[in-house]
Amino acid sequence: MPKHIAIIMDGNGRWAQARGYPRFYGHIRGVTRVKEVVRTSRELGVKALTLYAFSTENWKRPEDELKVLWALLRKYIRKEVKELKKNGIRLHVIGEIERLPEAAQRELKGALEELSDCSEMHLTFALSYGGRTEILDAARKIVSDCSEGRLNISDISEKVFSDRLWTSPLGEYADVDLMIRTSGEQRLSNFLLWQCSYAEFDFPAVLWPDFTSEELKKSLQRFGERNRRFGGV
Ligand code: FPP
Repeated sequence: MPKHIAIIMDGNGRWAQARGYPRFYGHIRGVTRVKEVVRTSRELGVKALTLYAFSTENWKRPEDELKVLWALLRKYIRKEVKELKKNGIRLHVIGEIERLPEAAQRELKGALEELSDCSEMHLTFALSYGGRTEILDAARKIVSDCSEGRLNISDISEKVFSDRLWTSPLGEYADVDLMIRTSGEQRLSNFLLWQCSYAEFDFPAVLWPDFTSEELKKSLQRFGERNRRFGGV
């Protein structure tokens, strides 16, 4: 079983358009799958689940679609916090959160606090997230720590660097074991670039609104058949 699963939830727009619905309807159906995948991951004992909900590039989308996405996020948080708490799921957010509409930021902040004591599973939403920006941010923190005498250049290690990434609250689970991208596209799209160094990749051909628990289990089955050598023999 992978300890950390990361998912690029791709294909909502195509799913809706193929059925003659507006694109946002795909996002609505996508939230159902978010709930399902969170529940199943927790049941299976996954320790960290990171979902790419919005990239820095997604700001280019039409205003109406953005509005729907933020409304869905707020609704999800409002409706699910109790359930997450009951299941010991701690919430994290990575990305340029300050760019989000204030109402969404407020909702998230409340949930982060409410769930801060939970420790069974880490659920992270990547929102206005970019992997290169995250790495640059860590580099800036390192430079600042060195120039202000808190860190010696000779002490900069992978661990010191990881500790300054946005995923540092995940601790020992920050490295991704299994990266899934739905919809058949085979790209990383700037997601968790550092954390995916030794990840296994799975690209199921189903669109995100069709990614049921059964599909997740199929991905896990394929993961189980991989031979992970981490550079060894
Ligand atoms: C990619 O599909 C999906 C997104 C950009 C948004 C994902 C968001 C959700 C699943 C709902 C958000 C809610 C919560 C609770 C985080 P796409 O629109 O790029 O699809 P396409 O490639 O077919 O156009």
